[in-house]
Amino acid sequence: MTTPGLQGGLDEPGIEVDPEAAAADAQVRGSDTTDRSAHLAAAEGALLRADEVVAGYVPGVKILNGCDLYVTDGELVGIIGPNGAGKSTLLKAMFGLVTVRSGSVVLRGETITGLKAHSLVRKGVGFVPQTENVFPSLTIEENLQMGCYQSSGRFAERFEFVAGLFPALADRRKQRAGSLSGGERQMVAMGRALMMEPSVLLLDEPSAGLSPALQDDVFRRVRQINQAGVSVVMVEQNARRCLQICDRGYVLDQGRNAYTARGAELAKDPKVIELYLGTLGKVS
Ligand SMILES: Nc1ncnc2c1ncn2[C@@H]1O[C@H](COP(=O)(O)OP(=O)(O)OP(=O)(O)O)[C@@H](O)[C@H]1O
Ligand SMILES: [Mg+2]
Repeated sequence: MTTPGLQGGLDEPGIEVDPEAAAADAQVRGSDTTDRSAHLAAAEGALLRADEVVAGYVPGVKILNGCDLYVTDGELVGIIGPNGAGKSTLLKAMFGLVTVRSGSVVLRGETITGLKAHSLVRKGVGFVPQTENVFPSLTIEENLQMGCYQSSGRFAERFEFVAGLFPALADRRKQRAGSLSGGERQMVAMGRALMMEPSVLLLDEPSAGLSPALQDDVFRRVRQINQAGVSVVMVEQNARRCLQICDRGYVLDQGRNAYTARGAELAKDPKVIELYLGTLGKVS
């Protein structure tokens, strides 16, 4: 029996394993919550890294209990894990939307812990939240303008780049975002975040709430964005699909790193399948 939605061209070639990657794989595979040495070695020189991040919303309650993550230039990194694991909180902590109580966030060697979102956008970090990620009463074009309000002189040039990735947005630039479908809104949200030419894009569940066909489209777009040179950290509930397209993946559980390895390795790790991919993991 096949599972609808797991088919759809995402197995196309594209993630080729080179010897360097294999070495990095060997380094990260098998790292667990108690062994940070693999993270520390591999995160050296990373584009963006989070180290032992502790964060939460309510005084005295920790949601993240010391999370590590890194993304290197050009990488596509996935974060999966159960509901409430702290995946969104980790993205928000890296983007200055949740206070980091201890630990650090570093962008190209510069500590950015605690910097506000608008400063991070200027430094090349983009963020697309899961929900409420477009201005519904504004047109597509106006939404994209909001994306580069800190650098409005570059609108035409950046619009051209975004239109190259999402031609439908250019064709319908005068349409209000509120009248778009869920998938189309997701394109606008990603387009908006790309207007400031981020070097790294943080995406929180870009495929949530979409039909299987639209999910495929979103995953393909994320790959395209990554292939255009933007590093990506993507949180996904569609764990198996996410692992199929990402270079490396992290499994978060109860605010801690549970597993990390190359995406393809995680997808076939029996423990990960058993605990986090459920029956979907058994479908080939
Ligand atoms: N604004 C908030 N105020 C208080 N608690 C919050 C807030 N946002 C999230 N939490 C709590 O933090 C924990 C982790 O939430 P988070 O949204 O990071 O999980 P998640 O892994 O992204 O889950 P999901 O897969 O459901 O999106 C949950 O217990 C949640 O209730
Ligand atoms: Mg979430």
